[in-house]
Amino acid sequence: MKFKRLSDLDLRGKRVFIRADLNVPQDDSLAITDDTRIRASLPAIRHALQAGAAVMVTSHLGRPTEGTVRPADSLAPVAHRLAELLGCAVPLVSDWVGGGFSVAPGEVVLLENCRCNPGEKANDDALARRMAALCDVYVNDAFGTAHRAEATTHGIAAHAPVACAGPLMAAELDALGRALLQPRRPLLAIVAGSKVSTKLSILKTLAARVDQLIVGGGIANTFLLAAGHPIGQSLAEADLVAEARAIIDLMAARGASVPLPLDVVVATEFSASAPARTVPVDQVGPADRILDVGPASAARFAELIAAAGTIVWNGPVGVFEFPAFEGGTRALAQAIAASSAFSIAGGGDTLAAIAKYGITDQVGYISTGGGAFLEFLEGRTLPAVAALEARA
Ligand code: 3PG
Repeated sequence: MKFKRLSDLDLRGKRVFIRADLNVPQDDSLAITDDTRIRASLPAIRHALQAGAAVMVTSHLGRPTEGTVRPADSLAPVAHRLAELLGCAVPLVSDWVGGGFSVAPGEVVLLENCRCNPGEKANDDALARRMAALCDVYVNDAFGTAHRAEATTHGIAAHAPVACAGPLMAAELDALGRALLQPRRPLLAIVAGSKVSTKLSILKTLAARVDQLIVGGGIANTFLLAAGHPIGQSLAEADLVAEARAIIDLMAARGASVPLPLDVVVATEFSASAPARTVPVDQVGPADRILDVGPASAARFAELIAAAGTIVWNGPVGVFEFPAFEGGTRALAQAIAASSAFSIAGGGDTLAAIAKYGITDQVGYISTGGGAFLEFLEGRTLPAVAALEARA
């Protein structure tokens, strides 16, 4: 991937427009409950300010209706948090597409929720041109939104005088490239989640590339069915057994593998208080639900993780929110933390597991992208990245 980087440009006196992903979770009173994405966006903003640029930052927040800004759509809480973190004023500008606001070199403004502007989602060219006219340098630092071809993530890049990647975007792409395009082998991926159907294209893409593909959660149950094991009442997709079988066969034909669990932790109901039993994988009873991998499986997976050169992790392998069914995910997290491999992790539940087991500092790279991370794993071209590459 070849694109211009913010760090390579002279920004003194320039009008710099940063598209960040400040789409943060909020509670019912609109208070921000996790500011990770705001913090991750600070280096680009600080760099531009210190370089003497007049800085405009925008982001989407949620999925609003275009043409209106309801209180819940407003970036006001984000402006407040940004000001606290930057230690300077961050005025929020509404109705900004036509200009008519001022920002001096060394100052920053936040431009109200870009997804409220008519034409944003459809990547309207006239809107993109108007926004491009606001700046000398367009910076896309919104990796989390790189899978969307919208006016602030795609169209504007074609019309701005200069278009480049911010440090967060560059770091995400560098880390993903290191993991998937030039991995140190063995390359091991952990893909877990409730359904094969939502991750089928990721599983297929990774099956052609990785040396070991550890599957977990409901996905693993479908693979266990494909391998002829009983799964009782466990969540699985019987109609995707043939796809799971094909992935196992494809991996085997390449000399790679899908290491299935040797033992599992089961209960007869999905609840934190359900009595848990560990059983060999071929002894799951008709009333049982598989809610985690067992200790023998976790130990085997940990050995593979210890031998890996690169690890890609998306999804916890059990119901780690319930103490009785967290052993597998905790063991994998600890194995990743102890490994000398380059590791990259992404996805909401994965980040929650990383936080729960306190291994943030031992993971090589933690992606801020949800859908964008998954689409990269699928091998898809991210439109926002393609737009930057076209201007390289
Ligand atoms: C995300 O939260 O994954 C990104 O901000 C993208 O949001 P979107 O799915 O609404 O485009």
